Amino acid sequence: MRVLVVGGGGREHSICWKLRQSKELSELFCAPGNPGIAEVADCVPIAADEIGKLADFSSDLKIDLTIVGPEMPLTLGIVDEFDRRGLAIFGPRQAAAELEGSKVFAKEFMERHKIPTAEFEVAHTAAEARKAIKKLGLPIVLKADGLAAGKGVFIVKDQQEAAAALDVLFEERRFGSSGDRVVVERCLAGEEVSLIAMCDGQHILPLATCKDYRRIGDGDQGTNTGGMGAHSPSGVLSAHEAAEVIERVLRPVVEGMTQEGRIFRGFLYAGLMLTGDGPKVLEFNVRLGDPEAQSLLLRMSDDLLPVLRQGAAGRFETARLDFRREASVCIVLAAAGYPDAPVLGDQIFGVEDAAARPGTVVFHAGTELEGEKLLTAGGRVLNVCALGASLREALRAAYQAAAEIRWNGQTYRRDIGRRVLESGGAD
Ligand code: GLY
Repeated sequence: MRVLVVGGGGREHSICWKLRQSKELSELFCAPGNPGIAEVADCVPIAADEIGKLADFSSDLKIDLTIVGPEMPLTLGIVDEFDRRGLAIFGPRQAAAELEGSKVFAKEFMERHKIPTAEFEVAHTAAEARKAIKKLGLPIVLKADGLAAGKGVFIVKDQQEAAAALDVLFEERRFGSSGDRVVVERCLAGEEVSLIAMCDGQHILPLATCKDYRRIGDGDQGTNTGGMGAHSPSGVLSAHEAAEVIERVLRPVVEGMTQEGRIFRGFLYAGLMLTGDGPKVLEFNVRLGDPEAQSLLLRMSDDLLPVLRQGAAGRFETARLDFRREASVCIVLAAAGYPDAPVLGDQIFGVEDAAARPGTVVFHAGTELEGEKLLTAGGRVLNVCALGASLREALRAAYQAAAEIRWNGQTYRRDIGRRVLESGGAD
């Protein structure tokens, strides 16, 4: 098969790396890709949101299947456009992608279908938001309705922080129309975990459990990011709890979407809080997580390509996906200043040494080549991933490999997986 992957981050590098191992693959393209992806696929200079150009490319090169990494093209309707042109693609149509594209839609959908989530109000103005905060009480979570690259969520503990967040949302309007409406949501306490499944519109194929680490700093301190690390298994969601999440969350989503005429095909990502009252949904994404994909695909033992092909055609022919028994870890190496103002253009050293270590793979995210030099070109720069017989071993291998890589201002969390290990958690 000739396959096109859309995107150019660490997630897309791991998808290309996995597809490269498929018996069904003949040619692999990635738009726009990155220097790491260029080692396993032909990179095409088309941005992920240039839907018309991507469809033209797919049609001209007789691509058999397209896989979309990031959320933006999905919410812009790439799947609808490919469907109109009879081009095979795995992902949700625009109407189904609203589950990620609008937090208000997602919360109201959960309310309609009795999917466990935190109590919430929708605010259109700062005054409405203040009223909702008064009703629900502090601490509280404020979420811009639309896409905001993971930066539109504010967890506020007092009136001062609430006032600052409301200023950003309603006065500064940092997120433009994405902040026209704001979800004001009760703050949930517990352990966060992600469960991602592949859906063909009807059936659900769960991936292994995984856990990502959103805050920039050790001990879950500081700003929210796209994700600073991940591991699989999660170590905090038992098989029994995962089965409960499938029945109480993922299945009602797929069935509810069908009832509402928004058939869900693609990766369905439930971000969950494990509360004393059972798992509750924090958010849905309509794609693989980044860096969750990197740790999950490292562990996946099944060939991904036939499953994607079947999902795009609307019918899985397999009832389950298999994963290796080993644990996997992904450590995100970021540029100084990430996420607010990453410093770009620094030369990176040591990637080959890190990648040469047994059981280790380095996926590129924000990198670019200047001649022979590899430079930082984004906030999240590299993903150092490793397999190990246990979570402890995988963490040791990933951190040893990360120590081989250096550039000015490089930063990464030193505590990925630590709390899970200390609490003795395991799946
Ligand atoms: N790591 C979180 C996300 O992909 O949204």
